[in-house]
Amino acid sequence: MKLMQLLTEIEKPCAFVPTMGALHAGHQSLIAQARELCDEVVVSVFVNPLQFEDKEDLAKYPRTPEKDAELAAAAGATILWTPSFEDIYPVQITKLSAGELGDQFEGVHRPGHFDGVLTVVHRLFELVRPKYAIFGEKDFQQLFLITNMAAQLHPEIEIIAAPTVRETSGLAMSSRNVRLDKDARIAADVISKVLRAATESDSVAQARKELAELSVNRDFRLDYAEIIDETTFEVANNETQQARAIVAGWINGVRLIDNMAMKRALVQV
Ligand code: PAF
Repeated sequence: MKLMQLLTEIEKPCAFVPTMGALHAGHQSLIAQARELCDEVVVSVFVNPLQFEDKEDLAKYPRTPEKDAELAAAAGATILWTPSFEDIYPVQITKLSAGELGDQFEGVHRPGHFDGVLTVVHRLFELVRPKYAIFGEKDFQQLFLITNMAAQLHPEIEIIAAPTVRETSGLAMSSRNVRLDKDARIAADVISKVLRAATESDSVAQARKELAELSVNRDFRLDYAEIIDETTFEVANNETQQARAIVAGWINGVRLIDNMAMKRALVQV
């Protein structure tokens, strides 16, 4: 695997996995999926300050460069790119806007976050010029916004959605999980359990009832839980064809998000 600080030239069509480092098995599954698509797989590691509305969160974000290099190579990355702030933002930053959806769900709790995500992903796409770019379904709102941004600004890039990788407990893999102590890890199981129950429901009302469990859980401080239409990100109704339960909240000072697709067709009740 080539290690690059400044990306100059990629000779072959590549599949791209943008990350903020602190790689884990979830990232490795994205990289393995990328490798199935292309022989050249570029993984970037860049902790983008623009998407952190909370400076403390940015400072606390885990950084594990040696382990990242090992895990990326083991999963099939051919280029590990670790740009500096100046590599990404050499001149004045032109910020993209995530529009109205950027202020909903995650956006209510992380103002400006998605503007920062879209701005960096757009810059990364300009620099890497991949054929494919792979993003995890775990950050479903991010995936939705990036897919729309790419359709407008980078129609030549195919955005691939990769399924969420879970620990045996059901907890969605995340770089933030390293900040959960033993008790918090056990408490966090409630998220996937409630999501599973909600997604077995056959009406939005029933699914919401299941999600409400999270608002009374003593260990979990809920930011939001909702059933949305995956194709529009609007709140779902029983006519919605592709619905998904989305959840975010806090366990012991660590913010966790997760989502699952509804398992059955919704029925009018
Ligand atoms: O999901 C992430 O790790 C980040 O939001 C991304 C897409 C790499 C942009 O910084």
